[in-house]
Amino acid sequence: MSPVNTPEHDASDEAQKPSCRRFLQSAAAAAAVTAAPLAHAQQQPAAATPASTPVPPAAVPVRLTINGHSYELQVEARTTLLDALREYAELTGTKKGCDRGQCGACTVIASGRRINSCLTLAVMHDGESITTVEGLAPDGDTLSPLQRAFIEKDAFQCGYCTPGQLCSATSLIAEYRAGDASAVTADVRFRPAQLSDDEIRERMSGNICRCDAYPNIVAAVKSIASGNA
Ligand code: FES
Ligand code: FES
Repeated sequence: MSPVNTPEHDASDEAQKPSCRRFLQSAAAAAAVTAAPLAHAQQQPAAATPASTPVPPAAVPVRLTINGHSYELQVEARTTLLDALREYAELTGTKKGCDRGQCGACTVIASGRRINSCLTLAVMHDGESITTVEGLAPDGDTLSPLQRAFIEKDAFQCGYCTPGQLCSATSLIAEYRAGDASAVTADVRFRPAQLSDDEIRERMSGNICRCDAYPNIVAAVKSIASGNA
């Protein structure tokens, strides 16, 4: 008879096999040993990070002539012209709308050209002349003809866009008188004989008015450009 199925053989075989219970006990013990260092690590307080004191960026001098007055501003190199005017020179007539070149509320005149002051750094204009809405009136008391026309034509409601509209329109009239064409000028070799509504709308298209005062803005600009005001 073969010894394979004898009781003696079964007993020794079973002794060599780990029982299900012993296996589970071993696994639990191993898991406990493995988890112990992790639990210990989690109980350790986080290593203190050394306190770091932020170092402010160095200021750089910017010399500007704003509305005929000399300013020497100490600004961070990353300061926009808009922020330099409002926060450093404290000329808050220039407005911040979108701060990304989309609305025109921040329009000022830099060395004779209208620009979005939110899209340019103050340091890029060192030594230049800047005109803001505060400088459009020939003296402190008398409004410019264009400013008067805006009032007479009711060319604003909330007024937030108006400083940018006024600076832009002031430049527009100077550009037109200097012979500049626009995208809707029929023959760009010649200045249009008149500033049509289309010409004004195109040339003012960088200035958004959320109050929708556009017809009255066009009327105000036209009255000055055509010499009727
Ligand atoms: S704030 Fe400069 S374009 Fe809107
Ligand atoms: S008047 Fe209000 S946004 Fe132009």
